[in-house]
Amino acid sequence: MSLSDVLLFAREWFRNPLSVAAIFPSGRALASLMTREISAETGPVVELGPGTGVFTRALLKRGVRPQDLTLVEYSSDFARLLQTRFPRVRVLWMDAAGLDRSKLFDGVPVGAVVCGLGFLNMSQEKITAILKAAFDYLRPDGSLFLFTYGARCSVPDATLAELDLNAIWVGRTFQNIPPASVYRIERRSEKGG
Ligand SMILES: C[S@@+](CC[C@H](N)C(=O)[O-])C[C@H]1O[C@@H](n2cnc3c(N)ncnc32)[C@H](O)[C@@H]1O
Repeated sequence: MSLSDVLLFAREWFRNPLSVAAIFPSGRALASLMTREISAETGPVVELGPGTGVFTRALLKRGVRPQDLTLVEYSSDFARLLQTRFPRVRVLWMDAAGLDRSKLFDGVPVGAVVCGLGFLNMSQEKITAILKAAFDYLRPDGSLFLFTYGARCSVPDATLAELDLNAIWVGRTFQNIPPASVYRIERRSEKGG
């Protein structure tokens, strides 16, 4: 993690603490855990709240093709940095809750969504809207990966029930400030649950 990224992140956090929701960008260990089930075979991938691009870099390293990747970022400074840093990746400067209005990948279903959003600071309505839009794009067997600093999954049980989703614990890393857990969110019906 470079010093300039840490400083940019801290500045964005001071400007908009609720939206940025973390003082430091995620570390490499968390990026590895978040992306470990994703490869070139996953096909199109959407990343929500990429920040300075820690997970983006890990996705590209795992073989996701730049043209298969779409980043959805709310902060204009982060969006600009991402477009400069990853010129072959599509960057959408927008609220992830508006995702259902953007047509991605010409209707080709998405294989995975990597979510870096701070759900603990969002209303249940907003979380539900974001997850609904994400699962409208995802293939039947596609998954959304998210991390949380909390003791349990940051998606409210009511949202999981309303959208017929399961949250599966993937793992936890202590090599992150603060330590974080990763969850895979998947359709209940698809996995027989
Ligand atoms: C906790 S930070 C995570 C950044 C990065 N993924 C990481 O792990 O280092 C949350 C990110 O989500 C972005 N964000 C917050 N609300 C958003 C929204 N509604 N739509 C898109 N991006 C959002 C913030 O600007 C920030 O980049």
